Amino acid sequence: MQTFKSLNDFPILLAPMVGLTHAALRKSLDQYYPRTSQVLTPTEMLNSRRIPGQELGQTPQTVLNENERNLHPQILGNDEKHIAPTIHKLHEWGAKAIDINMGCPVNKALKHNYGVALMGDMKYAGEVVNIAKRNSPIPISVKLRAGTQDDRDYLLNFCENLIENGADWLCLHPRLAHEKRKGTADWSQIALLKDRLDVPIIGNGDIQCYEDITEMLSSTNCDAVMIGRALTCKPWLITEYAHKNGYDLTQEQLQLIPRNEYEEYQIYCNFLMDFISNCFDLFIEKEALKRIRFFVRVNHVWLNFGHSFVKGVHKLNDRSELIDFVQMKKENQSIKIGKRTTLRY
Ligand SMILES: Cc1cc2nc3c(=O)[nH]c(=O)nc-3n(C[C@H](O)[C@H](O)[C@H](O)COP(=O)(O)O)c2cc1C
Repeated sequence: MQTFKSLNDFPILLAPMVGLTHAALRKSLDQYYPRTSQVLTPTEMLNSRRIPGQELGQTPQTVLNENERNLHPQILGNDEKHIAPTIHKLHEWGAKAIDINMGCPVNKALKHNYGVALMGDMKYAGEVVNIAKRNSPIPISVKLRAGTQDDRDYLLNFCENLIENGADWLCLHPRLAHEKRKGTADWSQIALLKDRLDVPIIGNGDIQCYEDITEMLSSTNCDAVMIGRALTCKPWLITEYAHKNGYDLTQEQLQLIPRNEYEEYQIYCNFLMDFISNCFDLFIEKEALKRIRFFVRVNHVWLNFGHSFVKGVHKLNDRSELIDFVQMKKENQSIKIGKRTTLRY
């Protein structure tokens, strides 16, 4: 059986995000990761009630690139009848590990008693991991929040129970269920899990710049950090970290490390154009446009004059018009990428 360390030896992971963590983003980000590194790569969350009846590769959420790094699909589920065939199917599709979502706070997940709802029922959450483990030839991880109420002892007991039931590693996004993505992630809870538990712990929440990465790694001692929103804007966090910490990069990848604000913005524009191309290559036009618009809505918050990007991208419908628009924007020397901003999505 593979382990977290055999599947992942680079400490920056992309987060699973609905509408964002699809094949187009994975492909655009892939060029930033060291060629020789093992990297777990997520999918958007996949509903275990739907996967058994779907033809994988035919839905936007399950389209794959030719060379995916270690695929780590995330599933939503609470029932053996759905979880077992889902894991079987995802394994055949290429998954190297399965992640169980215990963090999703949207009403639909609460209504069906999965996502973060599972955190309110320790015994049942353990049973869900147990079901997954019994039915899986590959490792099982859990991505969870700090819980439904602020209670560190409960969080610790909850995680111990997941591990007893077979969770191979955990990823903590330390916000309470009701906080959604507002407020501030409490990294001290990542440190607590790392200190008290014997499985790899991945820390997640609010990383926006290189210093945030090194601060989370050193203050919590976590095994890796997971970044969501900021990687849609700043892919160079990966190359920059790799370069400063002794990982081998190709000559081309060394060009993907910005030396100043101007180069940050140039890399952002190139990344966006690559992402737009990938979306049109991988999805039908309507799906591509939906994903491109959402991508810019999430990442424009780091750009001054970002709203003009959002407006421009929302008006255009055609691949070459979109690429020309970003190419034209790339020449605007007054646009800069902020180090940190107030996160909205
Ligand atoms: C648009 C969006 C969709 C998300 N969807 C998921 C999801 O499907 N599964 C999940 O575990 N977390 C999901 N998240 C939460 C992220 O994985 C991550 O925990 C959160 O954004 C905090 O990390 P960040 O500050 O680096 O973005 C989503 C976040 C965003 C912004």
